[in-house]
Amino acid sequence: MKCTVCRGPAVIDVRRHNSAFCPDHFVKHCQDQVRKAIHEHHMIEPADRVLVAVSGGKDSLALWDLLAGLDVTADGLYLGLGIGDYSDESVQHARAYARAHDRALHEVDLGADLGFTIPGAAEATHRSPCGACGLSKRHLFNRFAVDRGYDVVATGHNLDDEAAVLLGNVLRWDVGYLGRQHPVLPASEGFARKVKPLVRLGEREMAAYCVMRGIDYQVEECPMAVGNRHLGYKEALNAIEDRSPGTKAAFVYGFLERGHHRFAEDVASERSDLAPCTSCGAPTPDGVCAFCKLRDRIERAPSDQGTS
Ligand code: AMP
Ligand code: FES
Ligand code: ZN
Ligand code: ZN
Repeated sequence: MKCTVCRGPAVIDVRRHNSAFCPDHFVKHCQDQVRKAIHEHHMIEPADRVLVAVSGGKDSLALWDLLAGLDVTADGLYLGLGIGDYSDESVQHARAYARAHDRALHEVDLGADLGFTIPGAAEATHRSPCGACGLSKRHLFNRFAVDRGYDVVATGHNLDDEAAVLLGNVLRWDVGYLGRQHPVLPASEGFARKVKPLVRLGEREMAAYCVMRGIDYQVEECPMAVGNRHLGYKEALNAIEDRSPGTKAAFVYGFLERGHHRFAEDVASERSDLAPCTSCGAPTPDGVCAFCKLRDRIERAPSDQGTS
């Protein structure tokens, strides 16, 4: 296998691009895809203060590294979710990268700073951990960015993540989620801009990028997510992609080019109908925001739950 660019020995093929790359040209391929995504969707302007949500996994560490390669200096934010050894190990990877590359890493610990953990929240609410986890992450990333004056929050969602979420939304024809599914959510009153610069890169490419750049990451998947619906969608898409390389990219990019605007109109007015949460001040449609409602439910649950 030869590098498509320089004809030297290739170490990875990217079937959907009909290409193979040597290490240097693979890194360049990843940078080009991130640059293209940022440019195409106006994700980051030169003067923006950027916060990267860093989980210690391959995607967000690769994102932090790729942004630096494009001269975007970003600070990191790690959220301690309290998921046992998985969280303890994840933070070590995030810290190690920050130390080695002399980057600022902020840390917020759900247990110590907010009095609950994700396993505790799942137990107290009798709901899936991933629901409470996603809600808490979205709320806390935004709150941290707004409080500290960051213009943009960048997350490591990749092409596989976006394709799986899109498939789930289409299978249920969830028009609200389809209207909000986009690699850029613009800033508005009380909200920082949210961007997903890895939307043009797959999971396998991100793992390879970390290996080639010598970035040590949390290899384990979250133990609470095992068997969830989202992973089932990823497996189904991988089976299709294997037979027809390029399907995931066509699915996601086609939606962004030709489908998204049809759903976006329905949700366009949503953000103008918000008022500050009466408890924490975050913009919300219903008086008290979903995050404060979650915390309230956890506090009212029997005392052996909520912090385990
Ligand atoms: P996930 O929801 O686990 O698929 O993660 C999607 C993205 O959210 C990651 O690429 C990170 O950018 C961010 N993220 C997930 N977990 C954390 C965490 N514990 N702390 C900071 N950012 C996170
Ligand atoms: Fe959120 Fe696993 S990372 S439930
Ligand atoms: Zn090459
Ligand atoms: Zn609130």
